Amino acid sequence: MDIEQSERLPMNLSAVRSEHDVLIVGGGAAGLTLALHIAATRRVTLLNPVKDGQGASRWAQGGIAAVLSPEDDIDAHVADTLVAGDGLCDERAVRFTVEQGPAAIAWLLSLGVPFTPDDSPTASYPYHLTREGGHGARRIIHAEDATGRAVIDTLMQHAQAHAAITIHHDLFAIDLLADGEGRCRGARGVDRQGRIHMLVASDTVLATGGASGLYRHTTSPLPASGEGMIMAAELGAELMNLEFQQFHPTCLYDPGGPPFLISEAVRGEGGRLLNSDGQRFMPALDPRAELAPRDIVARAIDAEIQRSGASHVLLDVTHLGATAIRQHFPTIYAHCLGRGLDITRQAIPVVPAAHYSCGGIATDLDARSSVPHLYAIGEVACTGLHGANRMASNSLLECLVFARSCAAALATSGGATPSFTTTDDLITTRSIGSLPIEAERVYRWRQHIGEVMGRYAAIVRHDSGLDLAARQLDEIGEEIRSIIDNATSSVALSSVWHAVRLARLSVMSARLRRESCGLHYNTDCRHYSTSEIAPHPSRRLLADLPRGRY
Ligand code: SIN
Repeated sequence: MDIEQSERLPMNLSAVRSEHDVLIVGGGAAGLTLALHIAATRRVTLLNPVKDGQGASRWAQGGIAAVLSPEDDIDAHVADTLVAGDGLCDERAVRFTVEQGPAAIAWLLSLGVPFTPDDSPTASYPYHLTREGGHGARRIIHAEDATGRAVIDTLMQHAQAHAAITIHHDLFAIDLLADGEGRCRGARGVDRQGRIHMLVASDTVLATGGASGLYRHTTSPLPASGEGMIMAAELGAELMNLEFQQFHPTCLYDPGGPPFLISEAVRGEGGRLLNSDGQRFMPALDPRAELAPRDIVARAIDAEIQRSGASHVLLDVTHLGATAIRQHFPTIYAHCLGRGLDITRQAIPVVPAAHYSCGGIATDLDARSSVPHLYAIGEVACTGLHGANRMASNSLLECLVFARSCAAALATSGGATPSFTTTDDLITTRSIGSLPIEAERVYRWRQHIGEVMGRYAAIVRHDSGLDLAARQLDEIGEEIRSIIDNATSSVALSSVWHAVRLARLSVMSARLRRESCGLHYNTDCRHYSTSEIAPHPSRRLLADLPRGRY
């Protein structure tokens, strides 16, 4: 409630216009990497609302997957990614990403990211490489168990010191601007005083994160809820794979405490999942046991919880020894101890929670969306890398690789001056009025969306539940639609309006997919065999929706 209230913004309808070259919306790993690469040739404006300090990249614990050890190879990483993606990856995107991995890591090392060294005399690579689910080799480079924090802090230091990068911490994008020919021409934002800003830009890049915030229980405190995806769709950008929402198998079960991830690296280093009888249950379900891909482990935990009626399962690391636990997982150890749990002596209670959106804005290998001058990088994008289920630690890799390829494309496209002179030439997707909306009401809508998604569109789905979810989301959407155009602008209101429509599209995508695969498990649909993969239904559907009215 406090957050919602602090976001209530006073009204001031006179728009402030400013002109920009490359406008990046979002300051996580993808946005900052792009800024640092493109700033040599173009001027960068980066919108990084204060809340983004809490963004998903910063909370990533495990690390970054890349072929770094001489004992590993590109084909093996490609093959593991394709298997984890359950037949729906775009192999071209997978190979492109994996091949670019070592150069991306070399760049991070050159900036000084403090990755954990491997001091053992037999080490074949100077930095420690851990394992996570789906990976057949040790290939995750990490900074202890707080890799995201180490990467973001380093990138942010460099970006803040760069003369060609201007960072705004007080501007929140609420929608995109288009010209009369359907090209993206920047974004409309709102500042803390409630003033509207027209940020006119030659090229706009969305790096706004995923949509896990549509769910009530998530692995990070303030996840995005698909705002960037809907803003792009409003301009006619193609979205795809929205039904593939990943649930991380092991979020700390801590009612009353903040969301907290227990990294997959914990299982990579030998952690075992136990049921309420103290028995391991993964070996009987999959030969990869605790290191099976995430969709399989999360579903197994969900089934175990349903079977036993327990509120959680257990993740036991006590057999690794106190020294190893404290050395490998200092952040997790300290957090749990602060919550009254000594993980060197007690098993960790865990539950699955919403973690990562595999779908998003469809892009090519240069991060171009289907709307001219609009690009998308990081979790907001759907590059084809993850297919129906993302493999652990491939996401930070994707952020780096596609930010770098996007920068190369933008450097050659050269910053054409927008073909309009006045703000009147620009099209926005909604008007903004003066009716104040109570924070309490916005909060209730947000809670309701989270409950509907958690109940009907989570790890296990069925047709009637999805139909019910669609009806309930329609009702919430109608209520918001009836006031939105006349309402005072606020970040919270704008975000919930984006969220309800993205939730509705995600449910629609889930209902249209008539087979279970990867993260989309519908008890009314059979699991396909790989030879029967259906062409993706949501791709066409989402592109055909009327602009700005869903
Ligand atoms: C983890 O450490 O388990 C999260 C990293 C990821 O989602 O790839």
